[in-house]
Amino acid sequence: MVKVSTDAVQPFEQAHYAALRALAPECAVLLKKNGDFPLNAPCAVALYGAGARETIKGGTGSGNVNVRHYTTVEEGLENAGFTVTTKEWLRGCAALRAEIAAKFEAELVAEAKATGRSYFMVSMGRVPPAPHYAAPIDGAGDVGIYILSRDSGEGADRHAAAGDLLLTEDEKRDILACAEKYKKFMLVLNVGGPVDISAVLPHVENVLLLSQLGSVTGDVFADLLLGKAYPSGKLATTWAKAEDYPSLGDFGLHGDARYREGVFVGYRYYDAAGVEPIFPFGFGLGYTDFETSVTGFAVEDKTAAVTVTVRNTGAYAGRETLQLYYSAPAGKLPKPLRELGAYQKTAELLPGEQASYTLTLPLEDMASWDGAEDAWLLEAGDYVLSVNGIPAGIASLTQSVYTSRLSHACGDADFADWQGEKQRSVPENLPRLAVDAAMLEGAGHFDRARIAGEKLNLPELSDFTVRELATVCAGKYRAGGELSVIGNASARVSGAAGETADIAEEKGFGKLVMADGPAGVRVNKRYFEVESGAINLDLNSSIWFKDLMSPEEWEALQAQQLENERRAQERGEILYHYAAAIPIGTALAQSWNAALQEECGDIVAEEMQRFGVNLWLAPAMNIHRSPLCGRNFEYYSEDPLISGKTAAAIVRGIQKREKCAATIKHFACNNQETDRFGSNTILSQRALREIYLKGFEICVKESAPMSVMTSYNLINGVHSANNQALLETILRGEWGFEGVVMTDWGTTGSAFNRSMGMAGCSDPMLCVRAGNDLIMPGQQDDVDRIVECVESGELSIEELRICAGRILALCKRLRLV
Ligand code: BGC
Repeated sequence: MVKVSTDAVQPFEQAHYAALRALAPECAVLLKKNGDFPLNAPCAVALYGAGARETIKGGTGSGNVNVRHYTTVEEGLENAGFTVTTKEWLRGCAALRAEIAAKFEAELVAEAKATGRSYFMVSMGRVPPAPHYAAPIDGAGDVGIYILSRDSGEGADRHAAAGDLLLTEDEKRDILACAEKYKKFMLVLNVGGPVDISAVLPHVENVLLLSQLGSVTGDVFADLLLGKAYPSGKLATTWAKAEDYPSLGDFGLHGDARYREGVFVGYRYYDAAGVEPIFPFGFGLGYTDFETSVTGFAVEDKTAAVTVTVRNTGAYAGRETLQLYYSAPAGKLPKPLRELGAYQKTAELLPGEQASYTLTLPLEDMASWDGAEDAWLLEAGDYVLSVNGIPAGIASLTQSVYTSRLSHACGDADFADWQGEKQRSVPENLPRLAVDAAMLEGAGHFDRARIAGEKLNLPELSDFTVRELATVCAGKYRAGGELSVIGNASARVSGAAGETADIAEEKGFGKLVMADGPAGVRVNKRYFEVESGAINLDLNSSIWFKDLMSPEEWEALQAQQLENERRAQERGEILYHYAAAIPIGTALAQSWNAALQEECGDIVAEEMQRFGVNLWLAPAMNIHRSPLCGRNFEYYSEDPLISGKTAAAIVRGIQKREKCAATIKHFACNNQETDRFGSNTILSQRALREIYLKGFEICVKESAPMSVMTSYNLINGVHSANNQALLETILRGEWGFEGVVMTDWGTTGSAFNRSMGMAGCSDPMLCVRAGNDLIMPGQQDDVDRIVECVESGELSIEELRICAGRILALCKRLRLV
């Protein structure tokens, strides 16, 4: 831990900014081009759109990092020497936005008052409406740029309405006017997820998905515009017309959410329904162009391999992404028309340069989950492999084979999954290689007897009383007097989300300090320290409103704030931690580049070490099931392979550094924000295994994250944090996870959680039984309930010891003391 007692910019901040500026361009996706960009030199730019001055660096909620500063698009262009000709309009637009935001805040305060809910809960994830501020689009200047932005976040879902998934009339009018008036025009999307831009797309010739790139957003845009960097991202989620998004299964309802579409999520759905999206999954152009040809196909030792040659045929340097898809034969089970099996980003290729790559795919990875047999099944027939749309060869399986037999865990749906409509056609004249099914039998075998917890029943635990053990299994919560709130409950590190109880430290194991993710390290910027811990001076007072408090409460709060400032001055040491915001999860996934993702993880871990944080509450890796999920920007993709590989790369980056560990979340099926404490995901065994668990499985097996956070929702009627089948049978038993499982914040029904309006419905006793070791941020009620259950015999002390043992084993493993 390095303490900084000056507000001056530190060398590490500059180093991280420079590193992110070099990495982030790869996350941007060029969606349409006519060759007018990049520009040769800075020039006069007419800049429009709400994102020009109020650029969104990433969404809201716990995934938002408290940065010192981030560059907006306007700043980025000016830093690079452009002259912005529309300053007057930008000023007027910003003033109107501020007015709208203040009115919106007042409405939320009134709503909180009327409903008796806390402002914190009422305001979560809700964003003010867009301003109607007519732009004087006259065509003056060399280039027109329109920055379309969208914001969303934790606690609320997006809307299939104008201003969110759809364009407003103002946006359409202004974008079309720009496209008509400017000789060179680019539509720039500063968004965290899809927007239906089909109404303007035919008239716009250059579209860049800049995405939300954290601290460096504006400077990176200028680098891209000037060709100092090039976009090489590909979409990790389909962009469809609003009316074409699947409505087969429930989304955004309270209570039960039936995932009737089964495994047909994202491109698996559009293919099977015969729907042409606006931009398909995997799509992205570059300033340059590539030609790809297949030069080899082989099946050897249970693995298929496709060799391709890629040539840069354009005038700029670039990097191509090679995407290997397989198409499995429908038989007992219906199959998506194609599924991503492997991918690889090429090195930078200069104009005229070419390179060869071999992509490999273990055959067992093409198996589907047979819910009737609780087993992964490779059905007999032709498996067609292709790279970037070019058919490469067929692996022909002579008979069906079960590659592994597992368990029937996590219940069943009360409906039959959608089956898909379209049938595939198998291309002719492809090389066909026969595969001996026998060699794949049991290829994915696992040892059922291995339950990690048993190994972690540390001898030292016999010194702990029942109450002490229960205390270890709940985090240390700091009550509201010092203005700590949910997601900001650590006493040790100001602004960190939580920490483990003091008892573990007193007994020599040290303390685990946790901070959000996934956009960087979420801590407070300005604080001071007293014996009991760190006190925040950078008060996020927007959650406390005079209108919502009694006069006494308000007075006490004001006094507390003044007192904090006075104590800080008296101690004479105000401390600072300024974190970098890395690109949002979806943008990182769009790079399709594991090395880049790992490097971002390393930047985060370096800051964790500086700030004294051990457990990062990220990667967040839920599936983009619907474009409307408010937290999709934190998550990676609609595809489980991308989700799992991206998370694995970031986890590697985090865990390479001493005392740093990652917490993958939210396990599992947390795909909407509406009713997030009560939502019950109802889905088939097959959808669960192939889509919603697959990414977590890949990440656990590839990078061994030391921690997992369960989700707020239920799965087929059982809360994730109380779900023994999910945590012990699947996560630990089948995948070999050996770390700590913790709850999401405030998931039990303790008094404090209820007072915040968080209707958590997990039971602390069942958390222990299910192997959800740690209850966060932890309350006295949680500890009491566990102790009572042990005393009454409802819960055994062994069960409690296993959970506490895992937490203490992690402390030891990280060598916290
Ligand atoms: C979020 C988590 C986050 C936690 C701690 C919760 O509200 O769902 O993703 O890690 O708060 O801040």
